[in-house]
Amino acid sequence: MRRKLAAGNWKMNGTAAALAELDTLAAALSGDGPQVVICPPAPLLYRAAEKAKGTGIAIGAQDCHMQEAGAFTGDISAAMIADTGARFVIVGHSERRDAHEESNRDVRAKAQRAWDAGLTAIICIGEALDDREADNTLDIIAGQLAGSLPDHATADTTVIAYEPIWAIGTGKVPTLAQIVEVHDFIRAELSHRLGAEAAESITLLYGGSVKPENAAEIFRAENVDGALVGGASLKAADFAPIIDALAAS
Ligand code: PGA
Repeated sequence: MRRKLAAGNWKMNGTAAALAELDTLAAALSGDGPQVVICPPAPLLYRAAEKAKGTGIAIGAQDCHMQEAGAFTGDISAAMIADTGARFVIVGHSERRDAHEESNRDVRAKAQRAWDAGLTAIICIGEALDDREADNTLDIIAGQLAGSLPDHATADTTVIAYEPIWAIGTGKVPTLAQIVEVHDFIRAELSHRLGAEAAESITLLYGGSVKPENAAEIFRAENVDGALVGGASLKAADFAPIIDALAAS
């Protein structure tokens, strides 16, 4: 059985007042539902982890540095994230790959640091609109997966999020057939790399404009085990129905 997971990426949104959403979300969750992870901005990690204790909600960071420690002004290491009580970290989000020019090699190093610190890495991959229109989606996905995923990934250390860049924050969602195609492909690639057993156990998320209105349809795909949600994770009232749709899938 694969773990179902709903992760909320708050991006650069929210100050301490936003943590009240965690209480609302916790109150809306039933105990035996999917794993829920909230990834608030870094300054809120510690307070979020304290607040989430005993609720079943896990806390994650949105990025970590690829080095263990040192002269990297403004950056945050995986060990520092773990020290806040967080258990997950997103690496390789397209906004980091794009705005911070992170390469597959960087993402792979970050994932390895996350593992070393005892965190589960949520490794993001996804094609740009140009790639999709040029029919290069699966090549791009194969390359990102090969380059960004360290060797020996397991279900405990790794979650993969497929996020077509053109679907992030745009309200545009791929068709179910397009999602199925990419998720089946990712599972097959993982199987070549890690063996069938490990590949079958790793949680695959879809991300990009997931909303309460479209979540149930997306979760129909067999190899979609959850979602990485941006905008609709900021308010518990939007995120809770997405989690419910996942639980029912
Ligand atoms: P969105 O963002 O749900 O707002 O499209 C998803 C993401 O960037 O992870």
